Amino acid sequence: MTDEPGDLMETARLLAREAGDFIAAQRSSVRVAHTKSSEVDVVTEVDLACEALLRQRIAHLRPGDGILGEEGDDVPGTSGITWVLDPIDGTVNYLYGLPNYAVSVAAVAGPPRTRDWTAVAGAVYDGLGTMWSAARGEGAWRDRTRLVRHDGPGSLATALIGTGFQYVAARRAVQGRLVAQLLPQVRDIRRQGAAAVDLCLVAAGHLDAYYEHGLHAWDLAAGALIAREAGMRVGGLGDEPPTEELTIAAHPAVWDELREALIAAGARDLFAGID
Ligand code: IPD
Ligand code: CA
Repeated sequence: MTDEPGDLMETARLLAREAGDFIAAQRSSVRVAHTKSSEVDVVTEVDLACEALLRQRIAHLRPGDGILGEEGDDVPGTSGITWVLDPIDGTVNYLYGLPNYAVSVAAVAGPPRTRDWTAVAGAVYDGLGTMWSAARGEGAWRDRTRLVRHDGPGSLATALIGTGFQYVAARRAVQGRLVAQLLPQVRDIRRQGAAAVDLCLVAAGHLDAYYEHGLHAWDLAAGALIAREAGMRVGGLGDEPPTEELTIAAHPAVWDELREALIAAGARDLFAGID
């Protein structure tokens, strides 16, 4: 198995499908194992078991690779490739029996706990059974259908925008103030509860844009690549790649307008002074 983007994408798909089928089969008996940043930031026993499954499969299929997973310790690799894993993105939806959740698996080059990494391949397998995937420089797919850039909205005023919120109340309060300013300027807002899926929905044109403060590498690594490879623009407020501070993915037709609206609403340093 090579480190070519197409080969890594096939491995990402295989891993995401196995993990997704596993979590779908566990849905009748979901129990919370513990909480993290707040009492509503839950980790279920299935998150833990699914990540253990992914780690075991990666160790078997690609033993030299590193691992950065949401629910476990970092594994340093020797190959230069690291797998960035979210065993369940949208855990709250999963816990409540809602279908908007996914397994997110990305292969990245470079150290993923810094800004200095590049996603090479990724797969997002969602709770409705759709496999989203991409290989750097080669394109993005919904199942086996290539995603091509769809027509964008005419302006921000007619754009449907996805977003999400963190689990800590003080951070949500400022995110709420920002979205309140944006809401009158756009068609509408969607908060669907799974960042990786939101990014795929932008890729396919089911959302015109998406932004969120405070994502982690595992939330965005695969989905951001899928959106970019589908012809969307993905980044932060400047020219930087999407970061854990702010991720924006938008159809190029509304990117600049959305960026300006976010800056005007206070998106720079949104969490300054907040723990
Ligand atoms: C969360 C979801 C949610 C987003 C949060 C993420 P998790 O991931 O993607 O939509 O708003 O910022 O933390 O906790 O379900 O893996
Ligand atoms: Ca998760």
